[in-house]
Amino acid sequence: MPTNTQLALTQFAETITEASTLQQRSLPKLEATEVLVQHKYLGINAIYDRELYRGNIPYIKVAFPYVFGVEAVGSVVDKGNAVTSINLGQAVSTVRVGTAYQEYQVLEAKEVVQIPEASPEYLTLNPTGVSAYLALKNVAELKEGETIVVSAAAGGLGHLVAQLAKQKNCHVVGICGTEEKKQLLQGLNACDRIINYRKEEVSTVLAEEYQNQIDVGFDSVGTSIFDALLPNLAPLGRLVVSGLATEFALPQFEQVTGARVYEKLYWKGASVRCFMNHLYKEEHPAARRFLFEQYQSGKLQVKVDPTEFKGIASIIDASNYLLAGKSCGKVVVTL
Ligand SMILES: NC(=O)c1ccc[n+]([C@@H]2O[C@H](COP(=O)([O-])OP(=O)(O)OC[C@H]3O[C@@H](n4cnc5c(N)ncnc54)[C@H](OP(=O)(O)O)[C@@H]3O)[C@@H](O)[C@H]2O)c1
Repeated sequence: MPTNTQLALTQFAETITEASTLQQRSLPKLEATEVLVQHKYLGINAIYDRELYRGNIPYIKVAFPYVFGVEAVGSVVDKGNAVTSINLGQAVSTVRVGTAYQEYQVLEAKEVVQIPEASPEYLTLNPTGVSAYLALKNVAELKEGETIVVSAAAGGLGHLVAQLAKQKNCHVVGICGTEEKKQLLQGLNACDRIINYRKEEVSTVLAEEYQNQIDVGFDSVGTSIFDALLPNLAPLGRLVVSGLATEFALPQFEQVTGARVYEKLYWKGASVRCFMNHLYKEEHPAARRFLFEQYQSGKLQVKVDPTEFKGIASIIDASNYLLAGKSCGKVVVTL
């Protein structure tokens, strides 16, 4: 029986290097309804992980040692006696908090999602694509032909948001931080306007070109990007907070002095809304089906960051790479 190499949190700390330790564990005996999945690719969610190892996620009880990571794809290499729904060798996707950063995992057969191949693209669709789809549908309530501005648009989440918005014939503005990211967005043909915030001031561009015209602001970055989106919302505009990359990078939430947020919302009937993927679990299967069909029919491109990270130990490098803002598409570790 092989051993299972895992990256586990062993203490709360500011960096992944301080917080985590590599450990070897033997694999447990399977219950009748369980399967053993050997991971092939792991998805990196470094911003979320950092809040976890800082001890800041209120709904997760971390008991050390705590294997972390959320999504993986791989294949079923063993199964319990009662499992008939799935064959050995089947490619599967798994999405569970506290499971991904290891070589193998054991879980109930009913929890795995069967996929055509264990590829980085299916890893990206489930759950990052699911987040993009559900945030647009349920929180942004994006409608045909609206104007949407997406921050971190060349990231794992953002490049899917931009494309799903374009499918609705929206006017899409993508914000990103490098020329390489801009090129990724140009290649998707999803954006009508791309703002590289290192070359153009976002607040100026939005005030000059989109004043009172943003139906949906889709923001994963926060701070100055949130501040640039808020005053330019259209009547009935929705500012969706799907992440807080810059805010979480600060030692504490920035304290701002100004009128309460409703000052900029009330007369427009506009709103600020937050998205949290796990609160829409019952909609995950339908969202996955939609995304898989879009990808298989060539209507949706999935971009994976080309930097290679190999092996469980490389999760640390992959995480630091994402936290440095370098990611272009979804960051993935290969086993
Ligand atoms: N609420 C939910 O349920 C949910 C679900 C999925 C993802 N998310 C959030 O959505 C965001 C995107 O996730 P992702 O995994 O797809 O990552 P990602 O977008 O691939 O990478 C993060 C990107 O954010 C931008 N960024 C700006 N300031 C940053 C900073 N201080 N540190 C790191 N990145 C910074 C960078 O792009 P630019 O330089 O181009 O801006 C960077 O490439 C994350 O904040 C994540 O936590 C939330």
